[in-house]
Amino acid sequence: MKVLLAGEIDAEWRRELAAAMPEATWLDAGEADAALVANPPPGALAGQPRLRLIQSLWAGVDRLLADPTLPAGVPIARMVDPAMSAAMAETALWATLSLHRGFFAYAQAQREAVWRVHAQRRADEVGVLVLGQGEMGRAAAERIAQQGYPVRGWRRSRRHDDTPLPALLADAAIVINLLPLTAETRGLLDAGFFARMAPGSAIVNLGRGAHLVEADLLDALDRGHLRHAVLDVFQTEPLPAVHAFWRHPSVTVLPHAAALTDARSASAGAAANLRAARDGRPLAHRVDRARGY
Ligand code: NAP
Ligand code: GLV
Repeated sequence: MKVLLAGEIDAEWRRELAAAMPEATWLDAGEADAALVANPPPGALAGQPRLRLIQSLWAGVDRLLADPTLPAGVPIARMVDPAMSAAMAETALWATLSLHRGFFAYAQAQREAVWRVHAQRRADEVGVLVLGQGEMGRAAAERIAQQGYPVRGWRRSRRHDDTPLPALLADAAIVINLLPLTAETRGLLDAGFFARMAPGSAIVNLGRGAHLVEADLLDALDRGHLRHAVLDVFQTEPLPAVHAFWRHPSVTVLPHAAALTDARSASAGAAANLRAARDGRPLAHRVDRARGY
């Protein structure tokens, strides 16, 4: 099977993929039977008439789906990997603990040599809302709930007893975004959304930069309506050096590192799907192109 590699696939990935699927021929160009992609640039899969599978090494496929040259009708599968879910749960827990216990404020106070103790609340008094209850959202919610926080989730396929988003927002001290970027979720975290969040609450964006309207967030922080933002993803990545987020006292910046795909474990899953495509067996973790995730 000839597999085209496109996007951010380094030497470690190539080593692990070759070990997981020694019978494959890995190509950087030319006609292939399947493509393995990691955030590929637009056009990377143009002119590939024979593809049986496009396997993403990233969980989010928004950039891939936005490529107008993406071959039509070819199944797309995205990465679901327990190691990545565990990493995301760790990041979400770290952000929750740090916001709850004021550790970001203490780090800022140290930079200013200020000795000031903040009030301490119990974990069961700090409500956490996780937007998205898929692989990432569920892993994060479960890990945070294990530490005693009351956690609620929000998803697309709501049931009749589900609380509407405005009521969930009003009750949460910490809101964590783990939605996929789709036509429905783009720009969701805007001025209206922040206005519905409880005064003094915090936002954690681990989804995609385009979920969040950056100017609206800065306004909500500067007015003191929101207390803090932890941001892993941005409209422009890498975040430009002149961007206000870098130096804002109420913003913590991560370089899109909340959960990296682990080449060791993810290669096995990718190889299993490539073999399924080769042998005409059902594929795991298929993307619904119309739904956008
Ligand atoms: P997933 O398993 O497909 O789950 C997506 C969740 O979002 C589902 O619960 C889905 O609802 C919900 N959802 C989708 N559209 C919605 C809408 N319009 N309203 C309400 N809920 C909606 O995806 P995942 O693996 O958890 O990954 C989620 C996202 O995390 C990725 O797309 C990516 O953008 C981001 N991510 C970021 C990093 C990082 O390092 N920062 C790493 C990995 C992933 P249903 O359950 O009803 O379908
Ligand atoms: C990272 O953001 C991913 O989607 O895997």
